[in-house]
Amino acid sequence: MNSKTVFITGTSSGIGLETVRYFAGQGWNVAATMRQMELARSVSDLPTVRVFQLDVTDEAQVDSVAAAAIAAFGRIDVVVNNAGYAQYGPLELTSMEQIERQYRTNVFGVMKVMKAFIPHFRLSGGGTFVNISSLSAKIAFPIFGVYSSSKWAVAGLSEAMNIELAPFGIRVRTVYPGTHASQIFSKMDAASEGDASIYAPYVRHFLGSQADMAANHPSVAAKDIFAAATRDGWRFEYMPGRDARLLVWLRRILSNRMWYQMQVNSLLQPPNPRVQRLMSWLMGGTTPVQAVADARLQGEG
Ligand SMILES: NC(=O)c1ccc[n+]([C@@H]2O[C@H](COP(=O)([O-])OP(=O)(O)OC[C@H]3O[C@@H](n4cnc5c(N)ncnc54)[C@H](OP(=O)(O)O)[C@@H]3O)[C@@H](O)[C@H]2O)c1
Repeated sequence: MNSKTVFITGTSSGIGLETVRYFAGQGWNVAATMRQMELARSVSDLPTVRVFQLDVTDEAQVDSVAAAAIAAFGRIDVVVNNAGYAQYGPLELTSMEQIERQYRTNVFGVMKVMKAFIPHFRLSGGGTFVNISSLSAKIAFPIFGVYSSSKWAVAGLSEAMNIELAPFGIRVRTVYPGTHASQIFSKMDAASEGDASIYAPYVRHFLGSQADMAANHPSVAAKDIFAAATRDGWRFEYMPGRDARLLVWLRRILSNRMWYQMQVNSLLQPPNPRVQRLMSWLMGGTTPVQAVADARLQGEG
């Protein structure tokens, strides 16, 4: 039996929850953290999992929960920075308060959790951080500029820390998930409608172009997160989901002009169902994104 321990943030649903299950299934101890303890029942069947309450925007709580998890397990080997949510809407219609809130969770939360564990990793001779960025840090999408920028920040931080912390035997890996069927779509923080919203048709077209896309099951990301945490070697980045790999490849082979035109058209024109079906098939997902959001709205998600 493996006696290693992973600390994971944002485990109440989606990728975080599947990652808890995956590590536990591989015999790991898991310090699963979440904001709402009533959701801990989803992991109550797993004997090696202990749940801690944590909101990553609460700096004092991050320190005390990190200390409590270290005390409970003796040592933490891997920290997965997964907690996050998506801000969406045109920048012009997004308040500075919303932007700051996005950064407090997606960026400062990751920094704070890393700061809480670096001394422990240093003193225990090493450790691994796995930071969850996003495909939208490889390719930025319109309407999700604030979210994308927060995930680019995570990617930049991870790359720098992988070098800065190397003298202490600490590794930092970055995971860039493609679209996964989680609650992220129903928990999005929307920008205001604005003044009869000049942007309304563009937002509608763009979201329409995404709605029928098939998404990966969160277990796809969980498997890659485990690989990122445990594999030796020189692979620093993981990109779970065929959609992520396909889009990054397309971006690489298309000219700037073609890529730009394609993205701008996603704002200007209603989605073409034939193209949507083709892309969905090529990307190989299993669950329509819209179905996930709808299920959540009906209280099933
Ligand atoms: N799903 C995708 O397509 C996708 C693609 C690329 C990247 N990602 C990234 O993957 C990560 C997991 O997202 P998901 O798709 O699994 O979405 P999800 O089902 O909504 O899960 C997000 C988790 O983060 C938690 N969380 C949010 N703010 C928090 C805070 N301040 N403190 C602590 N926990 C907080 C949520 O807790 P509550 O239940 O309390 O809200 C939830 O447990 C996120 O970083 C997301 O940006 C997702």
